[in-house]
Amino acid sequence: MFDLLIRGGTLPDGSVADIAITGERIVATGRVEGEAREVIDAAGDLVAPPFVDPHFHMDATLSYGLPRVNASGTLLEGIALWGALRDIATVDEMIARALTYCDWAAAMGLLAIRSHVDTTPDHLRGVEAMLEVKRQVAGYIDLQLVAFPQDGLYRTATGRENLIRALDMGVDVVGGIPHFERTMEDGRESVKDLARIAAERGLMLDIHCDETDDPLSRHVEVLAAEVTRHGLGRRAAGSHLTSMHSMDNYYVSKLLPLIAESGMTAIPNPLINITLQGRHDSFPKRRGLTRVKELQAHGITVGWGQDCVLDPWYSLGTADMLDVAFMGLHVAQMTHPDEMARCFRMVTADNAAIMGLDGYGLGVGDIASLVVLDAGSPTEALRLRAERLAVVARGKVIARRARGDAQLSLPGRPASVRRRHDGVPAAPR
Ligand code: FE2
Repeated sequence: MFDLLIRGGTLPDGSVADIAITGERIVATGRVEGEAREVIDAAGDLVAPPFVDPHFHMDATLSYGLPRVNASGTLLEGIALWGALRDIATVDEMIARALTYCDWAAAMGLLAIRSHVDTTPDHLRGVEAMLEVKRQVAGYIDLQLVAFPQDGLYRTATGRENLIRALDMGVDVVGGIPHFERTMEDGRESVKDLARIAAERGLMLDIHCDETDDPLSRHVEVLAAEVTRHGLGRRAAGSHLTSMHSMDNYYVSKLLPLIAESGMTAIPNPLINITLQGRHDSFPKRRGLTRVKELQAHGITVGWGQDCVLDPWYSLGTADMLDVAFMGLHVAQMTHPDEMARCFRMVTADNAAIMGLDGYGLGVGDIASLVVLDAGSPTEALRLRAERLAVVARGKVIARRARGDAQLSLPGRPASVRRRHDGVPAAPR
């Protein structure tokens, strides 16, 4: 007797299979015989491993408009606004906002999140709050925390000391923001320092790197070199990398192999990069997203991150990684069928690889976390930003949603309409 059986789901590779679950693990797949205490009839719906977000700021989420809105829409005004908010927000407020966000995430099948947490203020209330949230959601969301010196590692007197304190409190990953240090030289030194700290402590490294339109910002190069020097490989990630959008093509032809050699991963954040970057341009206006397809063509793992929902930097957002992938697909012009399928993989398996998640997937022995979508394929899920019909976390059904077919009142037309279209073409070979 299984605990849970998902019957007849279409997997992301197009095959149809049952998935049997006992306890927290998948114990059988394919055509499964046997009874289960609970059965979900997927009936051809897409069944995928859960969505994963490798870049978020949970200490700031759901604070939009506090203490006022970002009038210029720039990164720098957002940082200034957050600087005012973090010193008046209480631990309880931050926990409440983050837990509400985690409810949204759970309902959307977003079950692993890497969140940066600001380590700038000496009170470290954000760190205290996020560690408590991590503990409270552990049964259904893998929350990885990054010690993030928002105002610069060296730009405040206690920036470095507070980052170390946060790591000592139990924060998992080393973060940084070299393009916000006072000088290019300080930025370079910060990357070296942070890579050393990560290597010495055996931690992962995830740097906000060159989130700027400056084509001469060169911290990505330093990060790749330091990751290679310390052998961090996949344990290191560069977030944003937006300067690569504006860089000279000849220079990028040298940079891409350097990044590939290091083994580090890349995390562009399309919702945010398309709204924050290019704000100082007239026309033509740069898009500011890094070179996604070019990085992938060099064998570099690239994921899509969300970065922000309703905070000083972004006034929208729903915890839906399909929104994130949808925007990324458009801005990076990933419209070929293979590329669209890749975009879905980026917010699932590729993001899981970036976060180093164990037991992620739909194979026997994997952790039994998955999502059932009202779509027939990954591409259709993207097109529809499909409803999550069921979400399973560690063997337990944590969210269900009824299909929401629209009722039509049109003479001579059907009484209800679904937006699904079973004729999604296969990729030409
Ligand atoms: Fe960020």
